[in-house]
Amino acid sequence: MNDKERVAKKAAMDISHGMVVGLGTGSSADCFIEALAQRHHEEGLGVQTVASSIVSMQKAQNLGLPIIAIEHLDQLDYYVDGADEVTDDLVLSKGQGADLVREKILATAADKFIVLIDQSKRVKRIGERFPVPVEVIPFSWHLVAKALRRIGGQSLLRPNANNSGLATTSYGNLVLDVDFGVSLTAEEIDNALNAMPGVIEHGIFRNLASSVYIGVAGDVEEL
Ligand code: 5RP
Repeated sequence: MNDKERVAKKAAMDISHGMVVGLGTGSSADCFIEALAQRHHEEGLGVQTVASSIVSMQKAQNLGLPIIAIEHLDQLDYYVDGADEVTDDLVLSKGQGADLVREKILATAADKFIVLIDQSKRVKRIGERFPVPVEVIPFSWHLVAKALRRIGGQSLLRPNANNSGLATTSYGNLVLDVDFGVSLTAEEIDNALNAMPGVIEHGIFRNLASSVYIGVAGDVEEL
């Protein structure tokens, strides 16, 4: 078992019979979906799941996990997902994928949000390893980029995987990857982005994570 599978298994062990569980998106979330499906089948866990993306929904479906639509959700016990950066005070940056909107809705709705990472994701400052992803409604991107420049953010429109055009999110929006340098705190960036017209969602997740499980050389540490 590798470190990713180990943290995923620990998170799956937190789930009890009959819970409603949110499934994140990415390779760590994939490992969790597999570990949860295994418990569901072997122990008759009787969980219901709600996915943060089409990819996670397909994976859960293929593994026989019961899925409910996000539209029908009125209570969520757990949300389990990966992250791209995590600070010591549990601020996250997410969204190197294209499913920020549902990810943040589920992370906010959940009673507990468990984050699965390895040591390489730990940072002193959000933005240290990756620019901050900002999902924008397509016609607003230029004005949003200008507004971001005014607060010290340099944006690049994210290209698609083979660099032949622009990346689009699951909802047909564009993504600005924004370098804020070191002058603003994550809280200042979060507040500014939350108040910026044209921004649909962004990758800073503050005051949302309950625990972070970190895979460290064959062991799991908790933050
Ligand atoms: C997708 C995400 C992922 O959780 C994040 O990119 C981490 O992915 P991985 O577990 O594959 O390292 O935020 O939008």
